[in-house]
Amino acid sequence: PLKLGIMASGNGSNFEVVAQAIQDGQLNAQIQVLIYNNPSAKAAVRAANRGVEAVLLNHRNYKNREEFDEQIVQTLQKYDVEWVIMAGWMRLVTEVLIDAFPNKIINIHPSLLPSFKGVHAVEQALASGVKITGCTAHIACLEVDSGPILMQAAVPVLADDTPETLHARIQIQEHRILPQAIALAAYSSKTAFDKA
Ligand code: GAR
Repeated sequence: PLKLGIMASGNGSNFEVVAQAIQDGQLNAQIQVLIYNNPSAKAAVRAANRGVEAVLLNHRNYKNREEFDEQIVQTLQKYDVEWVIMAGWMRLVTEVLIDAFPNKIINIHPSLLPSFKGVHAVEQALASGVKITGCTAHIACLEVDSGPILMQAAVPVLADDTPETLHARIQIQEHRILPQAIALAAYSSKTAFDKA
């Protein structure tokens, strides 16, 4: 099984669907650890309910992003993590994390990248007037919300959408593609990403 480390900042619905896909036998993996950065993140409750170890690393306790990422790397290594899944991770990451897991970090983002990078992707899509947006699962690299795209799904923007209703429709698609993208990445890495 793939040894996953999941990073989440909030609700953790994407953590939940990965855990469920494993339980249902749709993804041959195990979650070694959940790392969360907000003490009140519901993701931590979800982990506890599923018997997954959860580690709180509060970014507010670190001098800078690099020191924070160093602690994340140490934790991921301690739990013998092979693939890192950023499932609603709302912090910018540095080369400290990226270099420790080259081509082995997967991010899920609520837009059709390269459109609408950053933290307010759903609001940006609404404000721009696009009629179609969606979500992207991709291999993370240093530049935020960039890197090889694994899977995308399109979602229509409706005339009466609010950020909440649109995000809810996008999340249905995130939950469908994220477990598939993890399997695809693990398979592709043997052929495409790892050239050695
Ligand atoms: C997801 O929609 C994810 O795409 C987004 O945060 C949400 C987390 O939901 N991530 C970003 O915006 C990253 N820039 P969840 O906590 O329920 O999984």
